[in-house]
Amino acid sequence: MFDIPTPALLVDLDAMEDNIEQMARYFASRKAKLRPHAKTHKSPFLAWKQLEAGAIGITCAKLSEAEVLIQGGIQDILLANQVTHPSKIRRLTGLARHSRIIVACDSLENARDLAEAAQAAGASLNVLIEVDVGLGRSGLRTTDDVIELARYIQGSPSLKFKGIMGYEGHCVFIKDFAARKAEGEKSNARLVAVRDALIQAGIPVDIVSAGGTGTYNIAGDFPGITEVQAGSYLFMDSRYLELDLGFKSALTVLATVVSRPEPHIAVLDAGKKAITEEFGLPQVVNLPGAELTRLSEEHGVLKLAPEAQGLRVNDQVQLIPSHGCTTIDLHDWYYGIRKGDPEITWPVAARGRFI
Ligand SMILES: Cc1ncc(COP(=O)(O)O)c(C=O)c1O
Repeated sequence: MFDIPTPALLVDLDAMEDNIEQMARYFASRKAKLRPHAKTHKSPFLAWKQLEAGAIGITCAKLSEAEVLIQGGIQDILLANQVTHPSKIRRLTGLARHSRIIVACDSLENARDLAEAAQAAGASLNVLIEVDVGLGRSGLRTTDDVIELARYIQGSPSLKFKGIMGYEGHCVFIKDFAARKAEGEKSNARLVAVRDALIQAGIPVDIVSAGGTGTYNIAGDFPGITEVQAGSYLFMDSRYLELDLGFKSALTVLATVVSRPEPHIAVLDAGKKAITEEFGLPQVVNLPGAELTRLSEEHGVLKLAPEAQGLRVNDQVQLIPSHGCTTIDLHDWYYGIRKGDPEITWPVAARGRFI
């Protein structure tokens, strides 16, 4: 029983530290390096732990996340998204004077806007070109377009061309490792072929960035990939735990039983505002015979088999989210637990920073 008001985000510190160490060990002996994705944890406190373990920088998804990381003293940041609105570009050029931020770009129009804004601000902006490697999201589709855009960036005095990124998000959850490797390598090969074409065109490429948690040891081993953007490995969630990647479950939502209306039903104080379910319902930890069957806004409904029917009002239950990244963003605080005892709390500092 934790003396923590619920619903609360619990981190098993031993498990999280093991995950950081396992990932650091993998990259210690490789050419490719880790630039973990902070969209998962949204916390400079945790980003610094990853950097101290050997990460070469941090990836983030949004400008406002980058602001929080930079305010937390982190300098090397890849903003792995397009920043297009003029007011956001102004904020980005401001950040460029306080960090070594790199921004992703996938169009000439956006590159022109970035160049003009950087010039007006007297800043120099590092730019990475995003390449679509099969996910079908952002990113240029053809090598010719990448070369044209790279030439434009190279020729812009206020921009600095740093390289390319291509996230193989359509591969990261393939359960069978051999199949995941085959698909992941196709995407990595596509990205490295683009790099080769750039070099042939006389354009130097420093960074070739790819990979998520499901493909860290595929992209990390692929010749030519220089950095990997995995994020979820830090905590894991039930969707990634199915992949048997060797990382431990380090994140749960602590909930309290607030009602026992029938012998086979217990109602928890954690609903959709405390834990997300877009990839499936959360899993109940260490309570044989208990299954979460439903989340509404503020309630979770447990179905109890006879062996779990001793559960009482005010008992606590831990739930593993199916998606850690979106669950974390619902909370203000992490509660760090070691061997069952609360050790430290820290804020989800970039919570709600999706701008
Ligand atoms: C651009 C990008 N890079 C990397 C990742 C990897 O994240 P994860 O470690 O959660 O697979 C994601 C996940 O959505 C992403 O969008």
